[in-house]
Amino acid sequence: MVVPYKHEPFTDFTVEENKQLMLDALQKVEADLGKEYPLIIGGERVTTEDKIVSVNPANKNEVVGHVSKANKELAEKAMQVADETFETLWRKSDPKFRADILFRAAAIVRRRKHEFSAHLVKEAGKPWKEADADTAEAIDFFEYYGRQMLKIKDGVEINSRPIEYNQFNYIPLGVGLVISPWNFLFAIMAGTTAAAMVTGNTVLLKPASSTPVIAYKFMEVLEEAGLPAGVVNYIPGSGSEVGDYLVDHPRTRFVSFTGSREVGTRIFERAAVVHEGQKWLKRTIIEMGGKDTIVVDNESDLELAAQSIVQSAFGFSGQKCSACSRAVIHEDVYDQVKDRVVELTNELSAGNPYDNSHFMGPVIDQGAYDKIMSYIEIGKNEGELLAGGTGDDSTGWFINPTVFGDLDPNARIMQEEIFGPVVGLTKAKDFDHAIEIANNTEYGLTGAVITNNRSHLEQARRDFHVGNLYFNRGCTAAIVGYQPFGGFNMSGTDSKAGGPDYLIQHMQGKTTSEMF
Ligand code: SER
Repeated sequence: MVVPYKHEPFTDFTVEENKQLMLDALQKVEADLGKEYPLIIGGERVTTEDKIVSVNPANKNEVVGHVSKANKELAEKAMQVADETFETLWRKSDPKFRADILFRAAAIVRRRKHEFSAHLVKEAGKPWKEADADTAEAIDFFEYYGRQMLKIKDGVEINSRPIEYNQFNYIPLGVGLVISPWNFLFAIMAGTTAAAMVTGNTVLLKPASSTPVIAYKFMEVLEEAGLPAGVVNYIPGSGSEVGDYLVDHPRTRFVSFTGSREVGTRIFERAAVVHEGQKWLKRTIIEMGGKDTIVVDNESDLELAAQSIVQSAFGFSGQKCSACSRAVIHEDVYDQVKDRVVELTNELSAGNPYDNSHFMGPVIDQGAYDKIMSYIEIGKNEGELLAGGTGDDSTGWFINPTVFGDLDPNARIMQEEIFGPVVGLTKAKDFDHAIEIANNTEYGLTGAVITNNRSHLEQARRDFHVGNLYFNRGCTAAIVGYQPFGGFNMSGTDSKAGGPDYLIQHMQGKTTSEMF
């Protein structure tokens, strides 16, 4: 029997012992920097000439790893292995055997938890708290999806009549292409792979090119946990070469993607095309961006409002699809909330996360840095710069937490996803107006409402159209199995990671009816 699911606790780094454990782990990880990592296809290590270089965004000169890069030929080879492994082994495997692999993976990661978190500090520039939460979430995905698989393995109850026995079961789909993001480089990469694998599918895992090393380490965990060769294949590579090739491939049965709206919609369109030799319509599970809003009512705890805005906007430098990038504040309390947000923002700093002395680390790469800085210039013309607005890309890609005020709800800063430490403030006449502004984006991922007015909370529950709506708290930090996560509209395909119906999206229902 497995014990009931409970989420992995977070580490308190103010405790000296924990701090020391993390510093030790960082030292251990430093000794591994600059290593070479091969592809893994059918359990075989394949080294290529062409490499992806993963660097520490807090220190551009520090190479985290040189990772072999797949091309079309290797992608094809991986597809053949995954297809064959699905047909001959994995689709027939016992769901309990598959779930047990995830339970063992959880135990392995938990035992070496700080080492994984330390790696995330290096490969993505995550502050300790954010790295610890990422590792905890990866563990949660293993524990939760393992249990969910056990729950659905015998199918769902349906009706039968005398002399007739009906069954309804979920069976796997086939080969899944998992394309994972760099922001939750461990949790989302491992979670999307785990869901695809535990449901009996074989997987081609193409991790984000800025953070491929953590995915290699995850492969080692799966192997140690007893995953047979060929079930998950590790093929980092470029989106335009390997990604497109496999999205288009007639043997790809589904694509699970988390990342930008631009890439997500491109995958959605390409996956809709039926290629020669293809026998199915491909399934897509797509999680894209957000333009997430915190609404502050006039009858509310204004300190809580300001804290929620600042924490949700600047945690991991705003590089979460759930991050608060807009605050819509009732005009009666606008000035008070604005002043407090600015005060709290000015207390924060961005710097190398190594010694845990800054709230924020760097942004992920030069492209992100340039894009965010260009949005800051746009913001200066659209509203009033109240805090931040500066950056430094000399050693790493650091941008100070930035607040713009007095924005028009339709300003670009209020409509376009920036994916960085920038938040825009705007005024609403009343609560109806605030909800109207909150809904005026093409996205629908997260949102929060800060109010003491019960009827306004109920109104928001009904009318604020986002997949994850939070009351009297910030709009980030969903927990697996507690706040299933995923959004509406241009935020994705409405799927909910870490939720009770996530696994069946990787499966198809089969009815059998027997007469005796
Ligand atoms: N699940 C994360 C959060 O809620 C975002 O991916 O912040």
